[in-house]
Amino acid sequence: MNSFSEHELEVLEGKRFEFGKNWLQFIKTLNNERVKVAEKSLLEFLNIENLKNKRFVDVGSGSGLFSLAAKNLGADVVSFDYDSSSVACTNILKNKYYENDNNWKVFQGSVLDKEFLSSHGKFDIVYSWGVLHHTGKMWEAMENIITLVNSEGKVFIALYNDQGATSKKWLKVKKMYNSGFLGKLIIGSVFYTYFFLNLLFYTLKNGKSPIKYIKEYKKNRGMSVFYDWRDWIGGLPFEVASNEKVVDFFIKNGFALTKIRTTNGLGCNQYVFEKKL
Ligand SMILES: C[S@@+](CC[C@H](N)C(=O)[O-])C[C@H]1O[C@@H](n2cnc3c(N)ncnc32)[C@H](O)[C@@H]1O
Repeated sequence: MNSFSEHELEVLEGKRFEFGKNWLQFIKTLNNERVKVAEKSLLEFLNIENLKNKRFVDVGSGSGLFSLAAKNLGADVVSFDYDSSSVACTNILKNKYYENDNNWKVFQGSVLDKEFLSSHGKFDIVYSWGVLHHTGKMWEAMENIITLVNSEGKVFIALYNDQGATSKKWLKVKKMYNSGFLGKLIIGSVFYTYFFLNLLFYTLKNGKSPIKYIKEYKKNRGMSVFYDWRDWIGGLPFEVASNEKVVDFFIKNGFALTKIRTTNGLGCNQYVFEKKL
């Protein structure tokens, strides 16, 4: 029998970040403006005008914001997440905006569960933003999502950028944060202060208002700076991927890259791949 990888062990030991709790806080800040930003991000990356007559799966739906955006754009949506609070969050949005609509279904399930995945058919758009690197088995999750794609369908994913030694340091920070009350207190105090000072320094150096920056942060996928910080400090399991490896993987599996947006620092690289016939 193969031994477990350190990321699989984190999952087995329950040392995973409670993403859903963060999302339950985040949706209190949700408004029409954030939903419109999320819709715009889908249209821009997928290079489409709407999602009418498309099947869209939101793998690791989190708050459910992007499922809602896809639904508003006309798609039939399936959302699922491993974390019960994330599922609750997605259901809150579904019940608020599309209560009796059978063309949006929400499930609790894992991208690592092949039987669960095969029960939902194929999709025109497989969306999984910031999820696969938090499963404990990123490459297996990647193998699994490609089985969901229709012929000529698209995959839109975001994965943490591989920063080499820096990524290894971040892994240590996240592990400490998830180690218990004291870890959370120490890491939380140090890194929220660090992020805040960094924000002040960056904005003032560039002659911008820090308050305006925080307010405008929602232009970034409709997200909120504080909940993103918490997700960043705590998000465990945590794996990273280089652009080369991700692009090679999809090309080897019969996809073509149609859009890429990369980062040099912390955060995610974003990719859209299209399945070739
Ligand atoms: C950083 S959040 C991203 C949420 C959402 N996709 C977004 O873009 O806002 C990561 C989500 O992945 C979910 N997740 C982690 N492991 C998963 C798994 N094995 N299967 C499905 N979802 C998973 C977490 O519960 C969490 O809601």
